[in-house]
Amino acid sequence: MNAPVLTDQFGRRIDYLRLSVTDRCDLRCSYCIPEGFTGFEEPGHWLNFDEIERLIGAFARLGVSRIRLTGGEPLLRRDIAGLAGRIAALPGIEDLSLSTNATQLERHAHALKAAGVTRLNVSLNSLQQARVEKINGRDVLAKVMAGLAVAQDVGFAPIKLNMVALAGTNDDEIDEMVAFCMQRGFVLRLIEAMPMGDTGRNAEYLDLQPVKERLRKEFNLVETVLHGAGPARYLGTADGRFNVGFITPISQHFCQTCNRIRIAVDGTAYMCLGQDEKFEFRPLLRSGCSDAELDEAILEAINLKPERHEFNEAPQKVLRFMSMTGG
Ligand code: GTP
Ligand code: 5AD
Ligand code: SF4
Repeated sequence: MNAPVLTDQFGRRIDYLRLSVTDRCDLRCSYCIPEGFTGFEEPGHWLNFDEIERLIGAFARLGVSRIRLTGGEPLLRRDIAGLAGRIAALPGIEDLSLSTNATQLERHAHALKAAGVTRLNVSLNSLQQARVEKINGRDVLAKVMAGLAVAQDVGFAPIKLNMVALAGTNDDEIDEMVAFCMQRGFVLRLIEAMPMGDTGRNAEYLDLQPVKERLRKEFNLVETVLHGAGPARYLGTADGRFNVGFITPISQHFCQTCNRIRIAVDGTAYMCLGQDEKFEFRPLLRSGCSDAELDEAILEAINLKPERHEFNEAPQKVLRFMSMTGG
């Protein structure tokens, strides 16, 4: 039998699912969530582990093979490693990754690795304490560094560092971040800030195209392809020891190759980061539906996937904060 394939209306193969396991976070990044935000999902609406396992299992039956755990901050969900182990064991799941702010990584890294998480992406916007506090809303640089050290010790490799490049805030630190990642063996990823909800704080978008050309010359980098499922385009040193990815949803979008959907903690599937199309799985899962009904619902949801985001044409369109869907 051929492997199952989920395809959307535009012929894109959907094989990657980002699962947000909580909308809560211990940080308040300027581009993600307002300071003082209280509108979190109530615990009774969180999909429990059995529901998550059933839902992901159904997606896997239909052709999804890669899962990324996100948040909010995924390490805040109780027994996250237990959940990871259950997902990694599902038939058809070939790749399980996690995106974290790393404030709690020091005590979770070992269990996550043992549970079958193979790839780790970590947010780090600056190497300066005061800047981290300004951008991320809390003074957590030391905790993040400790988390990164343990993650390397337990064998996560490569570890990707996500730096949201913000004009006038940390754009003068890109070269230092390159040097830091070269020295420590991290993959650096520079990300353009996307307009998601109004967080009430400045998150100035920086066009990464000129930055890419500058780094290419300065560090003698060549185009390269790196293992990953995401939209980053990479440059690397010729010896392959250092790579930097550029995630450019604003200056050069990548919607034509989009392979993913997102599921929020309450079981709502968001079909595009930059659009409002969604499908609610929680009522169905709690109604005692059959596997066939669940499969049918997944096909219906995939059909809702829009062609592209409109961050440039309609920057105020998406009102939900990034913390709801985890990037
Ligand atoms: P891998 O390439 O598999 O390592 O992961 P990834 O880059 O997809 O995941 P990560 O959680 O590290 O996301 C990095 C950045 O890419 C975040 O800012 C995400 O919001 C952004 N991103 C990921 N997928 C999409 C997408 O489909 N559309 C847009 N516009 N941005 C995305
Ligand atoms: N634009 C771009 N990236 C964002 N992230 C969170 N909010 C935004 C935004 N508005 C990033 C985080 C994390 C990744 C999963 O998404 O910094 O590294
Ligand atoms: Fe938390 Fe991540 Fe949002 Fe920062 S970007 S507030 S770490 S969910």
